[in-house]
Amino acid sequence: MPLKRIGVLTGGGDCSGLNAAIRAVTRCAVYQYGATVVGIRDGFEGLLGTPRTLSLTQSMVRGLLARGGTILGSTNKGDPFAYKSVEGDRVITTDRSDEVIENFRNLELDVLIVIGGDGTNAIGWKLHKRGVPVIGLPKTIDNDLDATDVTFGFDTAVNVVVEAIDRLQTTAESHHRIMVVETMGRNVGWIAVEAGLAGGAHIILIPEIPFEIEKIVEAIRKRRAKGRNFTIICVAEGAKLKGGNAVVDKIVRDSAETIRLGGISKTLVDWLEDYNLGECRATDLGHIQRGGTPSAFDRNLATRLGVYAVHCAARGESGVLVVHKNTEASTISLGDALKKIRRVDPDGKWVKTARDIGVSFGD
Ligand code: F6P
Repeated sequence: MPLKRIGVLTGGGDCSGLNAAIRAVTRCAVYQYGATVVGIRDGFEGLLGTPRTLSLTQSMVRGLLARGGTILGSTNKGDPFAYKSVEGDRVITTDRSDEVIENFRNLELDVLIVIGGDGTNAIGWKLHKRGVPVIGLPKTIDNDLDATDVTFGFDTAVNVVVEAIDRLQTTAESHHRIMVVETMGRNVGWIAVEAGLAGGAHIILIPEIPFEIEKIVEAIRKRRAKGRNFTIICVAEGAKLKGGNAVVDKIVRDSAETIRLGGISKTLVDWLEDYNLGECRATDLGHIQRGGTPSAFDRNLATRLGVYAVHCAARGESGVLVVHKNTEASTISLGDALKKIRRVDPDGKWVKTARDIGVSFGD
């Protein structure tokens, strides 16, 4: 059966490179297969009730390569298998997956390309098991999908953090301050470890290596003793004290991800101020890491994987995640792809390299 109509959606937290992937899917579908591409608005939400779509033509995707965000919109709410709505004090959960399946059929789509992280692709897998041909594309700034060596969005986020650390280095030095910079990453420390290393942070704190305040204080005092009167601490939002828990910003009851992390940089500054180490300041980079122009690496990764997804669709593959392994694009069953979160290995090359040049992990 020739490939005629492709649906594409973006789900979960946005990141840089989503538009590049949408552009790649559209251009390859049109140039190589003469197929039509239907953009679904706001993730799976766009397939609930009356479908909300956008016709993705070549002219619609013109100029998208360098644009951050997603022209289709995204949401990290709206799991159709467990759709949550708040009524007064109660959160009502309903299974609305039938609506999605019906809309997929009514739109006469051959395949649905879902661009997302673990949550969005898990929904894609469930839909595949219900007979909807789904191909997943891996994006997330967290870089926490074990099935792929890298997700698009991550490289841009790392570059944003590195630029921030470069800027904080100079002001920290002028004022002889301790600067704590907080990165995103949820329960993994990839952004913090790679950006911390590239930015020359003196202390890197990640969820995979619980820290002790005394060890951080010791590292700062050691620097002081050598006449280095400022310190940069790069902390992942999920980092935690030995025996403690990550700092929670808020519980979001109607979200698929109910725990919103955030605030460790401020908490750390409060703790450090008790040790007479001089002035400390916190910078939480937040969603700046998710926005703006994608790096060249992310543009190319999104383009390569987007093109590969269309070729897979044309071959009739479905229920797979397109991944980037050992510098090549390939596929893996969506079910298997989501089994494991990729965490920073405390004994692995990133941590070892950082330790070898004197970076403390506060342990
Ligand atoms: O998963 C991507 C991510 O940016 C995490 O690093 C972060 O914890 C979370 O999303 C923030 O989500 P929201 O956009 O809902 O604040």
